[in-house]
Amino acid sequence: MSDKMKVILDCDTGSDDAVAIMTAILSPRIELLGVTTVAGNKEINFTTDNTLRVVDMLRSKVPVYRGCAESMVAKLLPSRHGSYSGMTGVTQDKLDEKGEVISYHHDRLPMPDPVSREQPEHAVWWLIDTLMKSDGDITLIPTGPLTNIGMAIRLEPRICKKIKQIIFMGGGFKVFNATSASEFNIWADPEAAQIVLTSGVPVTMVPLDATHQANFTREDEAELRAMNTPLATAVADLVDERIVAYNAYQPQELHDSAPIHDALCVAYLLDPEVLQDVRFMRVDVDISGGFADGATLCDTRAYPDRPRNCHVALGADRLRFSRMIIDLIRTFR
Ligand code: BDR
Ligand code: CA
Repeated sequence: MSDKMKVILDCDTGSDDAVAIMTAILSPRIELLGVTTVAGNKEINFTTDNTLRVVDMLRSKVPVYRGCAESMVAKLLPSRHGSYSGMTGVTQDKLDEKGEVISYHHDRLPMPDPVSREQPEHAVWWLIDTLMKSDGDITLIPTGPLTNIGMAIRLEPRICKKIKQIIFMGGGFKVFNATSASEFNIWADPEAAQIVLTSGVPVTMVPLDATHQANFTREDEAELRAMNTPLATAVADLVDERIVAYNAYQPQELHDSAPIHDALCVAYLLDPEVLQDVRFMRVDVDISGGFADGATLCDTRAYPDRPRNCHVALGADRLRFSRMIIDLIRTFR
C-alpha cells in the first residue's frame, strides 16, 4: 500500500495555479489523482487548455477533467459582478514598455500546445464518483472559484463524509483584491464558498493575508533561470510576469516581488510549517450582493455564535515556501 497523500486539485489555471499543479506532480509524497478545471482567472476553455499544458510539460499522465464554466448563482445578477475592475481596483489596464497589456495571467500559458486531451467525464461527476468510491483519504485542494466543489456537494452531500480535508486558496482577513472586502476566488462564486464552509468537512483557508507573505523575488527568479531547463525557465518567466503585474497593480510590502498564491496550499500539505498563525475560527461568506459581496467574515470573538468551521492562515514562511518549490523544480530534467 502506498503511503503517498492522495490529492485532487481543482484549478482555474492561471500562472500561480500552474505552479501548484507542478508542485503536486513533482512531489514524491503526493499521489495526484486528477486535476479538475473551473472558470475563474480565464474562461473554462483556457483554464482547461492551460492545465493540459502544465501536465504535458511535466510528461505526466494525470487525468484532467473539465468542470463548470459559470458560477452557481452570482452571475445571474449583473449588478453583483458589474463593479469588478479586474482584481486590482484599477479600472484601466496598464501597458509595459513594449506597449503590451500588463496582466497576471495570459489566456495561454507560455508552454507548448498540449498533446494530451481532457477526459470525457464532467469534473463534478468524476469528483463525486471518485470520492464515493474512496476510503475517505483524499485531500481536495481548490485553487480557483469553488463552483465544482459546491456543485458536487449539492448533487451528492454524502461526499462530505468522504473528503479527508479541503485546503483552499481564497478569502481575506485584512487583505483583499477583487473588491474592498473580497478576494477573487470567493468573490467569483460566493455561494459555492459558503456551501464548502458549511459542509462539515475539515477546511483550511489560505487567504491573501498568508499568500502575500509567501512571495517570490527577483533572486528566486534568477535561481530558477540559472537551472536552464525548459521547466525552470517557464516558471522563471511566470514569476517575472507576476512581479511586473504586482508592481503595476498591487505593489507588495516586499519590494519587487509577487505572491504565487495557489502553490502555498500544496506546500502546506507537504510541510505544515509553511503556514503561520493558523487560527480556528467561524468563517461565513457574504452572499447578500452588497458592498461586501464575497467577503469572508472571520469571527474573532471569544464566543462566536456559530460553531467554528475553518482553520485560517494569517501568515506564511516565505523562505521555507520558495525553497521547497525551487528544489522540486530542480528535480525535473
Ligand atoms: C487567486 O485569484 C487568482 O487570480 C489566482 O490564481 C489565485 O487563485 C488570488 O486571489
Ligand atoms: Ca487560481
